[in-house]
Amino acid sequence: MTERITKAVIPAAGMGTRFLPATKAMPKEMLPVVDKPAIQYVVEEAVAAGLTDVLMVTGRNKNALENHFDRATELEDALAKKGDTVRLKKVLESTSLADMHYVRQGDPLGLGHAVLRANMHVGMEPFAVLLGDDLIDERDELLSRMLIEQGRRDASIVALMEVPPEQIHLYGAASIEQTGEPDVVRITGMVEKPSADSAPSNYAVIGRYVLKPDVFDVLRVTSPGKGGEIQLTDALKTMAEDVAGTGGVYGVIFRGRRYDTGDKLDYIKAVIQLAVDRPDLGPDLQSWLVGFAARLESR
Ligand code: G1P
Repeated sequence: MTERITKAVIPAAGMGTRFLPATKAMPKEMLPVVDKPAIQYVVEEAVAAGLTDVLMVTGRNKNALENHFDRATELEDALAKKGDTVRLKKVLESTSLADMHYVRQGDPLGLGHAVLRANMHVGMEPFAVLLGDDLIDERDELLSRMLIEQGRRDASIVALMEVPPEQIHLYGAASIEQTGEPDVVRITGMVEKPSADSAPSNYAVIGRYVLKPDVFDVLRVTSPGKGGEIQLTDALKTMAEDVAGTGGVYGVIFRGRRYDTGDKLDYIKAVIQLAVDRPDLGPDLQSWLVGFAARLESR
C-alpha cells in the first residue's frame, strides 16, 4: 500500500526578467491571467489533485505571493459592509485554498537547488513539483494521473508533451521507451535544453513532476549543468539510469491544453483562450475577436 501524496512544491523564486518592467516591483507569478494571478491557477490545480499542503520556494520581492494567499481583513470588511458578497467570495477563495508554507531559495542556483530547498518540509515522502509558468487547463487531466502512476510504479513521474523539433531547445528533453500502456513511457535519459539536432526526442518535460524523495540525495551531489545552474533534469537523468536504486523515471504523455505564461506571446494567447471560455466575457470577446481578425486580414 503506497502512502497518499499530500505535498506540492511550487518554485517561485525567478526574477521574471522576460516581463520587465511589469515585474520590477511585482512577482511574475502575480501577473493576472484574466482576473486571477497565474500562481492561483497552479495552487488550484494542486488542490484539485488532493495536494493541500503547498510549499512555495520564493525569493526577494515575493511578499505579494504570501499576501495573496493570506487574509486581507480590511478589504474583506469593506466588501462585507457594502454587501458585495460576490467579490468577497473571490477575495476569500485564495485564503482558504490550501495550507500554505514558504521557504526562501537564498542563492538563485537553479531549479534543482530550489527543489532541494523543499527537503526539510517534504521529508521522506513522495511529492509533486508544479512550475508556475505552465498552466494546465482544469478540464484536462494530468496531475491526478501522474499521482496514480507514481503509486502504481513506485517511481518518479514527469509530464511530457510532444513539441515541434524547433522548440525542444526550450525544455528538458527525454529519451523514452514504450511500456505497453498508452501514454505512459519509461524514461531512459534526459537532457536539459538540447539543440534540435542533438535532442533525444521531441518529448519535452512540461512543468509537472511527482518525485520520490530520493531526488533530494541525488540533487545534493548534482553538479551545476546548463547555464551553470543545478538542474532538476540532470538529477532525473541520474535517477532514470539507476533504475535499481530509485525506482526509475516514467513519463505521462499529456495531450491536453497547456498554456505557457512564462513567455510574452504565449501569455497573451493564454489570457485570450481562457477569457473566450468564460461565460461572463466569452461571448463579447469572441465577437470582437472575429471582427478584429477580419480587419487584420484586410489590412
Ligand atoms: C524548466 C526546466 C525544463 C522544463 C521547463 C518546463 O525550464 O528546467 O527542464 O522543460 O521548465 O516549463 P525553464 O522554463 O524554467 O527555463
